[in-house]
Amino acid sequence: MNKTRRILAVMACAFCFTAMSAQTAPMVMNAAQRECVNLCGPWKAIVDQMDNGFYNYRWTRKPDRESFFADEHYFQNTTRLIEYDFDVASELRVPGDWNTQDPMYLYYEGTIWYRRTFNASPKPGMRYYLWFGAVNYEAIVGLNGRSIGEHRGGFTPFDFEVTDLLKEGQNSVVVKVNNARHQDNVPTLNCDWWNYGGITREVRLLEVPETFIREFSVRLSDDGRSIEGWARIDGQQAAGQEVRIAIPELKFKASATVGTDGLAQFSGKAKPVFWSPSNPKLYDVAITTATDKVSDRIGFRTIKADGRHLLLNGEEIFCKGISIHEEQLYDGGGRAWSESHARELLGAAKELGCNFVRLAHYPHNENMTRIADEMGLMVWSEVPVYWTISWTNADTYANACSQVSDMITRDRNRASIIIWSVANETPRSPERLEFLSGLIDLAHELDPTRLVSAAMEKQEMRGNVLTVNDELLQKSDLISFNEYVGWYDGDVEKCRRVTWSFPVEKPIIITELGCGVKSGYHGNADERFTEEYGVELYKAQIEMLENMPWLNGLSPWILKDFRSPRRQLAIIQGVYNRKGLLDENGTKKDCWQILHDWYETR
Ligand code: GCU
Repeated sequence: MNKTRRILAVMACAFCFTAMSAQTAPMVMNAAQRECVNLCGPWKAIVDQMDNGFYNYRWTRKPDRESFFADEHYFQNTTRLIEYDFDVASELRVPGDWNTQDPMYLYYEGTIWYRRTFNASPKPGMRYYLWFGAVNYEAIVGLNGRSIGEHRGGFTPFDFEVTDLLKEGQNSVVVKVNNARHQDNVPTLNCDWWNYGGITREVRLLEVPETFIREFSVRLSDDGRSIEGWARIDGQQAAGQEVRIAIPELKFKASATVGTDGLAQFSGKAKPVFWSPSNPKLYDVAITTATDKVSDRIGFRTIKADGRHLLLNGEEIFCKGISIHEEQLYDGGGRAWSESHARELLGAAKELGCNFVRLAHYPHNENMTRIADEMGLMVWSEVPVYWTISWTNADTYANACSQVSDMITRDRNRASIIIWSVANETPRSPERLEFLSGLIDLAHELDPTRLVSAAMEKQEMRGNVLTVNDELLQKSDLISFNEYVGWYDGDVEKCRRVTWSFPVEKPIIITELGCGVKSGYHGNADERFTEEYGVELYKAQIEMLENMPWLNGLSPWILKDFRSPRRQLAIIQGVYNRKGLLDENGTKKDCWQILHDWYETR
């Protein structure tokens, strides 16, 4: 079995597990192109803290007809005992977290039921999928009175085939969303960001032909002289179909025949202009079969780690980055999800002088990676295997595998993404090493074209020598780690007392550094949270970075202040993590200028 077929076999396994545990269909890529009904806008919503719409009073799951999936209406027949009615319930906007839509929901963790009715007119010979950009954290989905499947994981798309359930005329979709944290979830109980719950990204009804192009990969060959890839065709007529790939601007055409496994692989000579931050060139790509056609805008580049060197298109690149949480840039907004939110956040990174963004700590919405393609921002994309995960729990591992697989499936054609990250600041242990090694292997199997790593932690050796002494370095393609010298580790002057030494020769990316600053709060430079402290910290950090034995990039923590329940210092934090270079309203702090000016010199 050749490498690509092995990769797709691995994907099928990851999907099978997902399907078994969550009954989701394999994801339909490029969903926006397939939309036939947009289900964004106001949905009816019922808060259900005791899961009364799902369990009876003995905590046994109710049959669908007795649950809220039935979408019954008390006010249409008041002789019947029905103790809910979506028609007279309140509303929540979709997409959007519920926490920032009503002060009553700011801290809410539990179940909220969503209901949306819509008109459809299913066509013979077409197939239909109910597609969600993301729901945090657990979604159980029902259509026309029947529960059809569930999904766990707050930051990746999923879909359910509903071809046989869709009705002519009005349909009713009901989603039970629960954002409660659990030790065995991914992420686990404790994390330093707000637990925004809800249908946080777009929802669409997709229409595709009976035999359609479900996913595809189009990329530059390792030697940079060809364009190669594959398409996975789903449907009764798949085997034997011819798949044709065209890139008109390059006068590139290739074709391949679909095998019995639904896979068609192609390759052809080509000389594209390489994608890079300085020239983010994208090409229109069309993929057609006898029954279907999809298109995409794709950039072509290579990314390699060669000893200490990070090579983009064969040349050294320094990643002038910033970390970003998926939170709207202005006015204390909640989850970012739209194209305009993405342009605001990534535009702020460009203004800082960045060519690189770390999308922490979970896969951001697809607008972010597509607009990073356009703007020429390289991307670190990460799954929320964060802190104290249940390393020995098989379901936890399977969920993490699904999130890695779904992250890669959705974004495999995004030139901006150069690094997949499988974890952040996880405590070292044999069980954690096995868990993360499996995720790294899976990411390499699914996508041999990108680098795979994790945000590790530093250790202190004798005599103020700092290092990264993590067994994961044997598997990761980078030495990538978080360091807070001058904040969590000592005072600002410590930055000037330490030296660094590394046990392996791989490219180094410092994935976090920084300090808390309350915007506009002034005092002595040794007073924490003052603007003055922030300026001195960044100056001292830069001096330290310039004395590193080698360094290939950094993504300081963080672009903007963000909500976190772990930040309880009144007046200064007020449930905001204050390490942003911008405050929660997008206002620049003094330390913004220090990093900006240094990036200009790099
Ligand atoms: C950690 C962690 C971040 C967190 C940051 C902080 O490095 O990765 O998620 O917000 O430190 O303490 O501010």
